[in-house]
Amino acid sequence: MLSRTELLPVAPDVTPLIRPSRISAQLRVQGRISLSEVLSALSCALDLTEGAPAGHTMRTCLIGMRIAEAIGLDTGQRSALYYALLLKDAGCSSNAGRMAALFGADDQAVKPRMKVVDWHARARLALETARAVAPGHGFVDRARRFLTIARTPDATRELIEIRCDRGASIALQLGFPSETAEAIRSLDEHWCGRGYARGLAAEEIPLLARIANLAQTVEAFHDRGGVAAAHRVVRQRSGRWFDPTLARVVLGWSKDDPWWALLGGDIAGAVVAAEPSDRAIEVNDDGLDGVARAFADIIDAKTPFTFGHSMRVATMARRVAQKCGLDATEQRRIYRAGLLHDIGKLGVSNLILDKNGPLTDEERARMEQHPRFTLDILERVSAFRSFARIAALHHEKLDGSGYPFGYTAEDLDLPERILVVADIYDALSSDRPYRKGMVEPVITGILERDRGTRLDPVALDALHAVRAEREAELRNHVNHPPIGCV
Ligand SMILES: [Fe+2]
Ligand SMILES: [Fe+2]
Repeated sequence: MLSRTELLPVAPDVTPLIRPSRISAQLRVQGRISLSEVLSALSCALDLTEGAPAGHTMRTCLIGMRIAEAIGLDTGQRSALYYALLLKDAGCSSNAGRMAALFGADDQAVKPRMKVVDWHARARLALETARAVAPGHGFVDRARRFLTIARTPDATRELIEIRCDRGASIALQLGFPSETAEAIRSLDEHWCGRGYARGLAAEEIPLLARIANLAQTVEAFHDRGGVAAAHRVVRQRSGRWFDPTLARVVLGWSKDDPWWALLGGDIAGAVVAAEPSDRAIEVNDDGLDGVARAFADIIDAKTPFTFGHSMRVATMARRVAQKCGLDATEQRRIYRAGLLHDIGKLGVSNLILDKNGPLTDEERARMEQHPRFTLDILERVSAFRSFARIAALHHEKLDGSGYPFGYTAEDLDLPERILVVADIYDALSSDRPYRKGMVEPVITGILERDRGTRLDPVALDALHAVRAEREAELRNHVNHPPIGCV
């Protein structure tokens, strides 16, 4: 049975960021920010979720684009492939909870482990599964867990389907063409027809998906064992996992040591340069908001308990900022910080995020690192650097009792203080694995207890004013429903 979040489509009210055939020309005129730079920098958050080494997505992108060039794809196909490669793991957070629950293990440890297993070799797959389940538990527990997986033959297909469908939806939400979405949806199909989720075979599999699948596998093995390991896996799986024509292209690079060596260095610039130049997409401020909203959905999909959290915090924080008299630029910074404040949670295992009970000291320490991860990720994205600090300080308190930096009042400006109260308000009103969401009077009591000591009075007053306004809006809506709502 899938969880509620896993089944939910992406938020329907999100305006597509780009429609390359119609809108990107306009964005190109107005915009200043390269979309490739934003998405390649943010791809490190997806690597983190997958438990993949930092830079996995960017290296996969370079490998895939080299294959595309070698087989002579036209500019439109290369542009669609380029963004499919950068977003191939956009659905990765959606199956993390299911994976952790199924294996009884840290999803970020299981995912990379299972990625290098040849699923067609049943004995090997069973052995790796047995090694991965419930680490640290006794033999009986581990055997029980292994048998549960073995008796759920559709488990792998289901996990991959959730991830690929969600990733494809996010690509469409961002306005990319269907070729990009279909490449992501068919990422784990195999040439022989024994891949997932639909069991497509040979040329039934979209060409861009065949390239992406080969590129991501080559990257994983190159990263672990160098050129020899990458070539070995391509030879072994050609005609089974991989399109033999594409496999021959990669095998032809065996003597190109300088190019393989490039993959081991700083490749951020090379990845941006790999976007087809006459299709390069730039985004304006609305486009950046769209990217931040798409990643907010990715963050919130990590666990059912945070569904909609980032969007609610962002919306509340922006209204509180407005109420405090901050200008439109500042409101937008706070809004984006709200959307992305928990992006660091993509680096925390679902065994911790979904735990139904108190965390151990070690688990709590890991959980409390997530604002540091947020800072690391957002600082990589030049367009997001201006609000990285606001986002990363959302668990700090005026008296220094917050985490992870332990900052005090003198380190915290009003934007940071606003995001703190907006985040706490939403956390208190939402269900958690260990308690139900609280009612408004109880929330007020908890917030007021910390007025002036841990929480900023100005931000709190503005928060209460916005809550009152929202209540009035709700009452008004109930008393005077829009036409057609009766
Ligand atoms: Fe947080
Ligand atoms: Fe949060």
